Amino acid sequence: MANSSRDLIRTVRSSIRARTAFWQTDVMTDETERPSLPNVDDLVVGVLGGTGEQGRGLALRLAVAGQPVILGSRSAERAQAIADEMGRGVRGVTNAECAAQADVVIVAVPWDGHAQLLQELAEELADTIVIDCVNPLGFDKQGAFALSVEHGSAAQQAAALLPKSRVTAAFHHISAVLLLDEAVTSIDTDVLVLGDDREATDICQALAGRIPGIRGIYAGRLRNAHQVEAMTANLISVNRRYKVHAGIRVTDV
Ligand SMILES: NC(=O)c1ccc[n+]([C@@H]2O[C@H](COP(=O)([O-])OP(=O)(O)OC[C@H]3O[C@@H](n4cnc5c(N)ncnc54)[C@H](OP(=O)(O)O)[C@@H]3O)[C@@H](O)[C@H]2O)c1
Repeated sequence: MANSSRDLIRTVRSSIRARTAFWQTDVMTDETERPSLPNVDDLVVGVLGGTGEQGRGLALRLAVAGQPVILGSRSAERAQAIADEMGRGVRGVTNAECAAQADVVIVAVPWDGHAQLLQELAEELADTIVIDCVNPLGFDKQGAFALSVEHGSAAQQAAALLPKSRVTAAFHHISAVLLLDEAVTSIDTDVLVLGDDREATDICQALAGRIPGIRGIYAGRLRNAHQVEAMTANLISVNRRYKVHAGIRVTDV
């Protein structure tokens, strides 16, 4: 083999080794830093839009796990009526009261109402951990598709509107149908958790883990929320094609 060919092969191999070493270091760092999750049993979880499918489903599962839960709504009466049906100590109040009283607040309103609601509640949500599960999606004859969002994602919009809050993103891919079906004793999915505040994402992972079958998996910073929100459109396509309520699993974690 000519010297120039050997040199080329050596250069390519050493470049691959360098890139592989970098990748392995990255993986090992994540593994060695895998945190044990905090105890979140006593945290009060509030759900904005807690009268809707997703909000009710998450509230129900957390309440069943023993979490103190408050449902928020634009109508306190509507929230209290659903809380009464749910039992387990769940209370129903206005969204503003819910934001002010909870330690952790899940945002479960439609994308259309997201900006206005969060703008109105910025003060009540100051210092609070906010979990955004909103998927900005459009629907047409071909099915669901991801909308493009000025801030990049719903979660980033929340962070922009709530500069004093600790915004995370999670619970995008869990089916409300499964959450609300108490005959389903274990939900077969992971929950991807995103955020820039590690303590907040740990709390969010721990809350996800209170629902039987679910693991909360850290999946990056808020700037990567768009593709997680958008992937819901793919899951909706899976659901339609196979007549299921699909979730996702992350392997090797
Ligand atoms: N459904 C699912 O399976 C699922 C799964 C994952 C994520 N998500 C996300 O969760 C969010 C809620 O979904 P959903 O299916 O539960 O929606 P939904 O039932 O249509 O709405 C949830 C609640 O939001 C409140 N709401 C409606 N419009 C509002 C507005 N303009 N401003 C403020 N509040 C408003 C309503 O409560 P009040 O009238 O009582 O205020 C409603 O009950 C969505 O962003 C969705 O992308 C849903």
